[in-house]
Amino acid sequence: MLEYKQGLKIAVIGASGGIGQAFVAHLEAASAVDKIYAISRSGTDFSNPKTSNHTMDILKEDDIAAIAEAIKSDAGIDGVIVATGMLHNDGAAIAPEKSMRDINAASFEKIFAVNATAPIVVAKYFLPLLPREGKSFFAALSARVGSISDNEMGGWYAYRASKAALNMLIKNASIEFGRRYKEAVIVGLHPGTVKTDLSAPFQGNVPEHKLFTPEYAAQGMLQTLNGLTAQDTGKCFDYAGQEVPA
Ligand SMILES: NC(=O)c1ccc[n+]([C@@H]2O[C@H](COP(=O)([O-])OP(=O)(O)OC[C@H]3O[C@@H](n4cnc5c(N)ncnc54)[C@H](OP(=O)(O)O)[C@@H]3O)[C@@H](O)[C@H]2O)c1
Repeated sequence: MLEYKQGLKIAVIGASGGIGQAFVAHLEAASAVDKIYAISRSGTDFSNPKTSNHTMDILKEDDIAAIAEAIKSDAGIDGVIVATGMLHNDGAAIAPEKSMRDINAASFEKIFAVNATAPIVVAKYFLPLLPREGKSFFAALSARVGSISDNEMGGWYAYRASKAALNMLIKNASIEFGRRYKEAVIVGLHPGTVKTDLSAPFQGNVPEHKLFTPEYAAQGMLQTLNGLTAQDTGKCFDYAGQEVPA
């Protein structure tokens, strides 16, 4: 649970997603958390008095700037969780590539836009909202398949590459912000394989004990975030607190 400080104010972007919803539910139950900004494209209706619901398309920079400005003039934030992401779309026009023959430039662009470009544009507007003193965090949902050294199976070209790019962008942001925000923790998070719409077409090959509920994954990642310090910034960690190699 997130409890490193009392009175925490947290923004969850992608609050409509399987994992995003679970993050909001855990944060609502956390006594150390005072305020949650639940932000999503499709909208949410969380009714806990701690939570306010906001809409934002992460592919629209104007949307991101407007929400960041609203938060700045409201209560401010101590932490940001970006839980958006894309592996396929429902119409299956975009699906992870089994081989190089499946590579499609338009699909690549879309996956990169959602998984890599959008989170760093969010960082551009949300990182400056964090407090300059004391621990703060910016965490974006990455994936173990974005690890270059861990890649033994190949495939999933666009998704793997977009998450590897995200990890690099997180590292860059951690270097730039770490100069002024000495205790900021800017990291990627790997949730494990989680039962959500994103993983639905691929759950068949996953043993039951390795297929997590969103609640379990979110709780693990909050525990991970709770324990991280500025020493850990720029890296990627999983739901169990283990570092995911680059
Ligand atoms: N599930 C897994 O097994 C797994 C494993 C490793 C990593 N991850 C990562 O975990 C993160 C969350 O995934 P999930 O499993 O919770 O997937 P999910 O249930 O499909 O949720 C995806 C979220 O991304 C949002 N999103 C997509 N495009 C958007 C846009 N243009 N603007 C705003 N929001 C947008 C969706 O919003 P709408 O509801 O509005 O469409 C939704 O909230 C992703 O980064 C994923 O890569 C998941």
